[in-house]
Amino acid sequence: APSSAGASRPVGPYPDFAEISHGADERLHVADGHTAQVLIRWGDPVTADAPPFDPYKQSAAAQLKQFGYNNDYVAFIALPARAGEADRGMLCVNHEYTSPGLMFPKDGPLSEAERVDIELAASGLSAVEIVKRGNVWSLDRTSPFNRRFAALDTVFEVHGPARGHARMQTPEDTSGTRVIGTLANCAGGSTSWGTYLSGEENFDFYFNGPVPIGGLDPQTGTVFREVQAIERNTGWWKHHPRFDLTRPGNNEANRFGWIVEIDPLDPSVPPKKRTALGRMKHEGAETVVAPDGRLVVYTGDDEKMQHLYRFVSRDKVDRSNRAANRDLLDHGVLSVARFDADGLTWLPLVFGQGPLTPDNRFFAQADVMIDARRAAYLLGATPLDRPEDVQPNPVNGRIYLMLTNNRDRTVAGAANPRLANAFGHIVELLPPAGDHTADRFGWDILVLCGDPAKNIGARYNPRTSANGWFAAPDNCTIDPQGRLWIATDQGSNWRETGTADGVWALGTEGADRGLARMFFRAPIGAEMCGPCFAPDGRTFFVAVQHPAADGISGSTFDAPATRWPDFDPKMPPRPSVVAITRDDGGVVGG
Ligand code: FEO
Ligand code: CA
Ligand code: CA
Ligand code: CA
Repeated sequence: APSSAGASRPVGPYPDFAEISHGADERLHVADGHTAQVLIRWGDPVTADAPPFDPYKQSAAAQLKQFGYNNDYVAFIALPARAGEADRGMLCVNHEYTSPGLMFPKDGPLSEAERVDIELAASGLSAVEIVKRGNVWSLDRTSPFNRRFAALDTVFEVHGPARGHARMQTPEDTSGTRVIGTLANCAGGSTSWGTYLSGEENFDFYFNGPVPIGGLDPQTGTVFREVQAIERNTGWWKHHPRFDLTRPGNNEANRFGWIVEIDPLDPSVPPKKRTALGRMKHEGAETVVAPDGRLVVYTGDDEKMQHLYRFVSRDKVDRSNRAANRDLLDHGVLSVARFDADGLTWLPLVFGQGPLTPDNRFFAQADVMIDARRAAYLLGATPLDRPEDVQPNPVNGRIYLMLTNNRDRTVAGAANPRLANAFGHIVELLPPAGDHTADRFGWDILVLCGDPAKNIGARYNPRTSANGWFAAPDNCTIDPQGRLWIATDQGSNWRETGTADGVWALGTEGADRGLARMFFRAPIGAEMCGPCFAPDGRTFFVAVQHPAADGISGSTFDAPATRWPDFDPKMPPRPSVVAITRDDGGVVGG
């Protein structure tokens, strides 16, 4: 095990739950002695005046008050429990995208324009106050904090270096400061003062015309390209011209791909896009306060051959005055990682430094942030195998980087040891003496994923069982004892591995390093998202995204592969957040 990290406290003992088995069926599975309660589902009322969900009578007006679709990242912002309560807090959730084939009946009454507006209303974020009595959670429907932030109509302010820049202006917003909505919100983070961060990831799917987002050709690793819009959700641009990039002067695509920040505890603070953290396909934005008091944000850029980034704030976090941190994320230095065999070097994305000059079409810091991918490439950053969640562990002082897979890799490197990396791997980063602001880190590979019994170069702790290995690590979290938990997103590859996505405990210390055990399994076709512990470790929130979708052809609203979680013939499958507790009230996982 590595020794250079500034371990502050010992990590707790390896969890002692009885492992569940690989497999795929219509239901969820959790380790014995635990209960998985469905806490909130797509369509459930969020605001006090929201109507009940009726999948056959959907409207954008109703959806704007109801829980959105495809819940991804989950954060829990603690609030003081009241008399008779065990716990209370704000549950903040990303709604990454919509799946119209599973949302709407085939011959329903809605026009395309109405469906598009419902999809936009179902995309974005939710914040809802929740309370635990005994071992059971419920929504506090009376909370004034319960809100939706929708791609359809919520205005986000642009802050930081790109605010107001000509490349941020559109025919509808000549100020370049106000964007309607947030899109493709994948993973996220929260700050020490209780705000919620969300990463805009695959925003290019929604536009008409090539989206300017500098990419690398995964085959050669060198050629820039513009991403062709995939139109996953057809026709948005036909009904909302802001998504039509063929219109003159329409820079709308430059206004997505950012980290957004909301304050779930103060509805008077507008939601903001933080352009100092760069524009890319942000997976998430997990944070840690450095020993000198500055905030550090780690973010992955989830595409093959993209990079790992770190933001270090200019100013220190004010621990006594929450409002003083309101625009902390507008000032600081974004850097990108170069991995060498003997360490990781952080390369700053600062206008005027190195290649980031007018010779390379950078004329201001705004250009560096809007074209962060191109800047990272010119600085010599290391292209990675789809960098997803990047999770600092405040207990052992290290950071865990999920590299989900990259079947197209043709050139191996120190941190990318496998060609045609179908199953992914996890890299551990080691800041010297726990200093997250240092220019150089150590690093090590924690596990190489896939089935260790097959000849594919997988590597786990040899005590890992036939159910303990996993593939496509995507999101992860750290419990209050500093133990690492991994959530997977295999897409349709679950047919190859023989198991649906789920959650695994993964040892990082001593004799348990690299030891994985399966704790939770999602229903068929779902992706496992949002792993998040309550601060007491007695609740583990997980998000079941797009049940019935991945790897199942012909699964629709009318004939889905599962009707989880309702199993009601009149109800389609519903993405939902699940609260896992231990039946004896103890710490989840044991
Ligand atoms: Fe939305 Fe990188 O998964
Ligand atoms: Ca994901
Ligand atoms: Ca993913
Ligand atoms: Ca995480």
